[in-house]
Amino acid sequence: MNRDEVDEVLKFLKEMKYPNLDRTLDELKLIGEVAIVEKKLKIHLLMVSNDAFQKVKKEIEKELGDKFSDFQITKQISEAQKEAEKSPSLNYGSTQKPNNRAPYAKKIIAVTSGKGGVGKTTVSVNLSIALSQMGYKVGILDSDVYGPNVPRMTGTEDEKLVWSGDKIAPHQNFGIKIMSVGYTTPKKDTPLVWRGSVAVSAVIQFLEDVDWGELDFLVIDMPPGTGDIQLTMAQELPISAGVIVTTPQMVSLDDVSRAIMMFKDIKVNIGGIIENMSYFVEANGEKNYIFGKGGGEAISKKYDIPFIGEIPLQSEIRELSDNGKPPVALGDEKQKAIFKEIAEKLIHNDTL
Ligand SMILES: Nc1ncnc2c1ncn2[C@@H]1O[C@H](COP(=O)(O)OP(=O)(O)OP(=O)(O)O)[C@@H](O)[C@H]1O
Ligand SMILES: [Mg+2]
Repeated sequence: MNRDEVDEVLKFLKEMKYPNLDRTLDELKLIGEVAIVEKKLKIHLLMVSNDAFQKVKKEIEKELGDKFSDFQITKQISEAQKEAEKSPSLNYGSTQKPNNRAPYAKKIIAVTSGKGGVGKTTVSVNLSIALSQMGYKVGILDSDVYGPNVPRMTGTEDEKLVWSGDKIAPHQNFGIKIMSVGYTTPKKDTPLVWRGSVAVSAVIQFLEDVDWGELDFLVIDMPPGTGDIQLTMAQELPISAGVIVTTPQMVSLDDVSRAIMMFKDIKVNIGGIIENMSYFVEANGEKNYIFGKGGGEAISKKYDIPFIGEIPLQSEIRELSDNGKPPVALGDEKQKAIFKEIAEKLIHNDTL
């Protein structure tokens, strides 16, 4: 084994994607030392959990196994993390002992999905309002920096960023405090073209610099997929419960497995799975499960996650939501009841 081969391995590792994620090992800063020790290639990975380590190790073995017969992959705990383990008050961002950038919030709920457009924002907004109607103090943070829809769905889309001293004042409507990068753009449809690192800093600034006051619940509307905002949130916040939104179609169920595996890998408790657009209600009141029944429940059983609700596909839900009139506040009694029931099931869950 020579130096060139080591460089080749290093290049390969840097470009390799974390299993099922669209991020490379280099981007996720998981590569430690790669060296030849006693004629043997040694690869050290900087991992936060053993599960994640095993997963990446297996993938590397699969890819490099044909080329190199003699190599060893080990887990290396970074100096910073060793320090953090020695002294519990110091913490450098492992997902097992996350930082807490939001000490003002008693509970943090992260709403996510494997795929876009399944109703995360609809669920986040209505869940937040349902919790506030139950008497809790609630804030919602739109962490979807590339497609911030929370302002539109909360009827605050004409608002701008307001500073109060050295803090940003959240907007308020329907009893909840709201913050979104959408308030910072000059026009509603201005696209945000940001590097990942800038997007992450913006979300962290909203956690730290917004005057949230004391909150019982901070609900985070996540961007679609499994990328660095999700990872950052898990490193920077002690998430009490992840909520997974899915739709009944198979494709979305494949994606949802990925979102679940990511939460499991990075040690975030999953508080529940919600199936959106499950059925529509016929004129005679019957439920028509057009895409098939029971997909969300099957996933919940498979991964041992509570199933906390199904939401019908209803044009009124879309119209109300997209016009800033959340169904839980301004819909009919049935619509209100759906979201209230979800909120109740979620908070009666052991993980919360
Ligand atoms: N149960 C429903 N019935 C009808 N329309 C719905 C329902 N749930 C959501 N919608 C509509 O579907 C669209 C997508 O919903 P939403 O924006 O909540 O999804 P999302 O997962 O947050 O999307 P993105 O990934 O783009 O952030 C919206 O126009 C919304 O009003
Ligand atoms: Mg959304």
